[in-house]
Amino acid sequence: VTDLNEITIMAIPNYDDNQVVSHTIFAHDPAAQGVFATLRADDPLHWTVADGHPPFWAVTKHSDLMEIGRRNDQFLNEPMSFLRSDEEIRRTQEETSGGNYVRALTHMDEPDHRTYRGITQGWFMPTNLKRLEGMIDQVVATMLDKMAALGSECDFASDIAPWIPLRVIMTVLGVPDTYHPHLLKLTQELLAPLDPHHQRAVGASTTSIRAQVFKDFYDFFRELVAERRIRPTDDLSSVIANMQINGHPAPELETLSYFVTLSTAGHDTTASSLAGGVLELARDPNQMTRLRDNPALINSATEEIFRWVSPVKHFMRTAKFDCVLRGKEIRKGDLMMLCFPSANRDEEVFPDAGAFKIDRSPNRHLGFGFGVHSCLGQNLARMEVRAFLKEFVRRVGRVQISGVTEYVNSRAVSGPKFLPIRYSLRA
Ligand code: HEM
Repeated sequence: VTDLNEITIMAIPNYDDNQVVSHTIFAHDPAAQGVFATLRADDPLHWTVADGHPPFWAVTKHSDLMEIGRRNDQFLNEPMSFLRSDEEIRRTQEETSGGNYVRALTHMDEPDHRTYRGITQGWFMPTNLKRLEGMIDQVVATMLDKMAALGSECDFASDIAPWIPLRVIMTVLGVPDTYHPHLLKLTQELLAPLDPHHQRAVGASTTSIRAQVFKDFYDFFRELVAERRIRPTDDLSSVIANMQINGHPAPELETLSYFVTLSTAGHDTTASSLAGGVLELARDPNQMTRLRDNPALINSATEEIFRWVSPVKHFMRTAKFDCVLRGKEIRKGDLMMLCFPSANRDEEVFPDAGAFKIDRSPNRHLGFGFGVHSCLGQNLARMEVRAFLKEFVRRVGRVQISGVTEYVNSRAVSGPKFLPIRYSLRA
């Protein structure tokens, strides 16, 4: 258990390559930022050879992440979109006969990526999302009522934060409330397989935990797909269940993978942002007061939360040809780790990068990535965080951290896991 109430970034005197692949390091955000600060200063494009993993380039500078995002014909999402250990690679190949458990947007390159993304792109545009405003406000209000009902103390990271984006994305997908806790659990098991509180217990099954979690997701969404094919509604699930690719119904793997991506990426990330934002506002009551007195700061505060928390810790790319980046020779087949939290603290781009500032402007953060794969749901995430902040500063007066805080132990998606707070309500 780690106390996050220290703002200083830890310098790591003896950096070693195992640190950047460690899930545990992300359980302590200042430690992870210390590793990235060392890399940015000493070797910003760093060839990393960590135990039990294929070697890769750790990309830690803002400009390099943008360059890679721009050159999506050179840096591909296939075949590895998240870093896998040698053992995970071996198990996946064994269990899928050389394939993968999942094939979603994050695994595709052009032309498939454009085709599949096009199916829902319009749905996620601001003009279409506008009709969700009332629903989002309602979900936020219900959660602030819950805070009121809990009295003056709660664990914000587990009692409140997950339930806002979970309810929003599940409403969008048309999944009834009774299944939300099940899908939250599956998401945590998938995205934080080594977190002691989130991981699935090893049971008697001989298949890998990853395979089991995907199977449970697929069993759930297979039923939803069947239902929406028979009785389509105006929800997003009906769009995906009935999508046609080049004139044919989409294959089952791609259809179910679409659901898994939206139902995982759509809430864990946003929940981490909400909790990370509340953590900073609790640490700095002046910024909380300024936000309340000046609601025009809601938008910049929201972007600063995404920059500061950077809940998505990395994605991978694979070089298609030999090329040069930052003066280094990248060979065909080399893996590249895009370190989003590092780019978002890059001192060359963000003045006073190590300070959380609700009025930061400009704020060209890469919390949502960059290029053709940049986050599909970013406008929805923005709406949710803005709606929450508006209501939070209106209804909550003083807020302080009342116990030990801890982050999720995951190199995929992480944010506060425990955030005990004490608060007073204004309205
Ligand atoms: C604070 C909240 C969120 C953050 C920080 C976040 C971050 C990211 C990042 C970093 C990427 C990868 C970008 C890249 O590879 O360059 C991504 C992709 C994606 N995100 Fe998000 N995301 C958030 C919320 C959401 C929501 C609410 C949804 C859906 C409802 C969503 C759906 C997706 C999808 C489908 C992709 C894959 C896009 C593609 O490969 O074309 N995300 N997100």
